[in-house]
Amino acid sequence: MIKFDHVSFSYNKRSVLRDVSFLIDSSERVAILGGSGEGKTTILKLILGLLRPDSGSISIDGEDITGKTESELRDVRMKFSIVFQEGALFDSLNVKENVAFCLREYTNLSEEGIDRRVRELLRVVGVENAIDLMPDELSGGMHRRVAIARSLAAFEPAMFLYDEPTSGLDPVNADIICKLIADLSRDRRGFIIVTHKVYDAMRVADRFIFLKEGAVVLDGDKGMLKQATVPELSIFMSELNGNCEGEARCSK
Ligand SMILES: Nc1ncnc2c1ncn2[C@@H]1O[C@H](COP(=O)(O)OP(=O)(O)OP(=O)(O)O)[C@@H](O)[C@H]1O
Ligand SMILES: [Mg+2]
Repeated sequence: MIKFDHVSFSYNKRSVLRDVSFLIDSSERVAILGGSGEGKTTILKLILGLLRPDSGSISIDGEDITGKTESELRDVRMKFSIVFQEGALFDSLNVKENVAFCLREYTNLSEEGIDRRVRELLRVVGVENAIDLMPDELSGGMHRRVAIARSLAAFEPAMFLYDEPTSGLDPVNADIICKLIADLSRDRRGFIIVTHKVYDAMRVADRFIFLKEGAVVLDGDKGMLKQATVPELSIFMSELNGNCEGEARCSK
């Protein structure tokens, strides 16, 4: 359970989030939508305790994390699997070593155990054949899938956080990532997907939080999203309606 209670945040006195409140259960499938610079990534960083709010409080599973030390925050972070916007893999390591990185860091698995787990994870995301490739030999979609495999490597997260997981991908690869996100949440482990692609959000999520000027202006289901009258949201939705392929994908 993630609770934002009247959270405000600014970078160097420049206000980014204003009085943001929401309660997200760890089994929910939530999309945080909004234009560039609205504070979507900032919200994920606040959830992980990478940033601290100027005012208001953030609780994870009933525990206020705002005053926690770095070592206490480590336990909080273990609850989440995060795929950052950059989805960055280590350029100098091949796919196997990228996925194995956290296993080496956080587990006592033998070399054989690491190899088995890496292959299993790459199979889950459908890129087991890429195990020996270097990051610059991967397509954008494969890169993103390896980043997801890596985020799953060390532990079983209670919830997934995805920052723009489909940005820069062609529709086929975006579709593959959406299916993967949906599959990984089958066992009631929910996720927060941060995106400006409404049709991908509608494909996987059933709750939508729309940010405008750092404030939550809509928090509701698909029906509410489609009927919303917020001007900026209408622009997002018209993009969806004008995108036949997107419409077909989200009506599934
Ligand atoms: N480390 C930082 N220092 C100063 N300003 C920052 C920093 N990180 C982000 N910002 C600013 O804060 C605002 C919100 O940033 P954030 O990355 O949360 O936006 P976003 O909604 O994720 O945008 P995008 O869709 O482009 O990823 C932006 O105006 C950004 O320029
Ligand atoms: Mg962002």
